Amino acid sequence: MEKILVRGGKRLAGRVKISGAKNAALAILPAVLLASGKVSLSNIPDITDVRTMLRILEDLGMTIRRRGRNALDFHPSRLRGHTPPYNLVQKMRASSYLMGSLLARLGKATVPVPGGCDLGPRPIDQHLKGFTALGAKCEIEHGLIKLTAKKLTGAHIYLDVVSVGATVNLMLAAAAAEGRTILENAAKEPEIVDLANFLNAMGAVIKGAGTDVIKIEGVKRFGGAEHAVIPDRIEAGTFMLAAAAVGGDLVIGEVIPKHLEAITAKLKEMGAEVEVEPEQVRVRRTGPLIPSDLKTFPYPGFPTDLQPLAMVLLTAAEGTSVITENVFDGRFRHVDELKRMGAQIKIEGRTAVVDGGGALSGAPVTVTDLRAGAAMLVAGLMARGETVLNQAEHIYRGYEKIEEKLSSVGAYVKPLRERSSGEVARDPG
Ligand code: EPZ
Repeated sequence: MEKILVRGGKRLAGRVKISGAKNAALAILPAVLLASGKVSLSNIPDITDVRTMLRILEDLGMTIRRRGRNALDFHPSRLRGHTPPYNLVQKMRASSYLMGSLLARLGKATVPVPGGCDLGPRPIDQHLKGFTALGAKCEIEHGLIKLTAKKLTGAHIYLDVVSVGATVNLMLAAAAAEGRTILENAAKEPEIVDLANFLNAMGAVIKGAGTDVIKIEGVKRFGGAEHAVIPDRIEAGTFMLAAAAVGGDLVIGEVIPKHLEAITAKLKEMGAEVEVEPEQVRVRRTGPLIPSDLKTFPYPGFPTDLQPLAMVLLTAAEGTSVITENVFDGRFRHVDELKRMGAQIKIEGRTAVVDGGGALSGAPVTVTDLRAGAAMLVAGLMARGETVLNQAEHIYRGYEKIEEKLSSVGAYVKPLRERSSGEVARDPG
């Protein structure tokens, strides 16, 4: 189990570099299975989930050459099978994208029902509804999803729920289907647009990504491509909220400011100053934080992934703030841990009422999922005294070099290594 020690009370100042987007990379990597030529990817974040996905691709038979920490080359090869290994698939929900890519490449896929963050029920009914519409047969038995399709044929699919995963998976399958597919009520996240751009670079014909109607003309063959993954808007938002939380003057780049508009607007409402430049944002806060209400929505609304972080911020805003989580059931598992640090928060269904203004006090806490972990890290930066994050490995799933990045701008954040005796070794200083 990984632990992180945080000492609070330090302002953040300087410049922090943003990595490539986890949720774009995790959609693009399965798409590489379709390529019949060499694929070169850059700005790939070096995080646990990406390493897991790379192991899955290698297990399936893909040849991968690392050109650098964040650059990889993929060479087309005969696939060894259509069943990614259970022990790897279970580690993350993005493994479900192998259903769409293996169906497109081989016409069959056997994928264990995916795992991932515990954010309440995370069904895949929309994914399976779309695959069926494209002509695939879906069976679920013994915890395995078995998909087969003699031929994939384009269809007009109306998603009942705005789902990033279903939109990604159905784009992957429809890209190789015969004829036209129209995805209605599609998710509009920038990561969907990045995937569509990558697929089109390989020869796909996808129009409308980024809107709620995506039109896909299936093609028989995909070539190779070069592609640089977009910056991670959730990592950028994490650092923006952290700077507003502890005060300071932080430049965050490179980013695509358009992807951060909901966060910028909310931070200004909460009393932070945000300067937007073409490829970076600068966040400062000198005055008090202002209580604000927050509702999460699919893009371009305020992202659910930053709701836990915004909640941490609002614990320091004198007064009452109401947070409504509209995307996931049960995305409040970080609340109990925050309350152990002194936060005053009441949960009523999908609503959290934050009675802000009291200072947080450092405590040993447990990380329950990736973004809750980032929130606890920021809570530790704000709190008086020391906070130890237990099960910190969740954080490494989605944040590259998070301790180094925060330390480089003034935070006290250190990994705690446990000696064999069980005693915790602390970095000097
Ligand atoms: C993706 O998850 C992201 N993960 C999540 O980020 C992100 O929070 C989420 O989109 C929303 O933006 C990746 O991209 C790997 P959804 P996903 O399908 O695809 C319901 C992170 O920390 N739904 O858009 O699983 C679902 O239950 C992670 O980086 C169905 O009902 O999210 C949820 O309530 C956490 N049926 C809502 O839709 C389905 O078939 C949105 O889920 C699919 C989804």
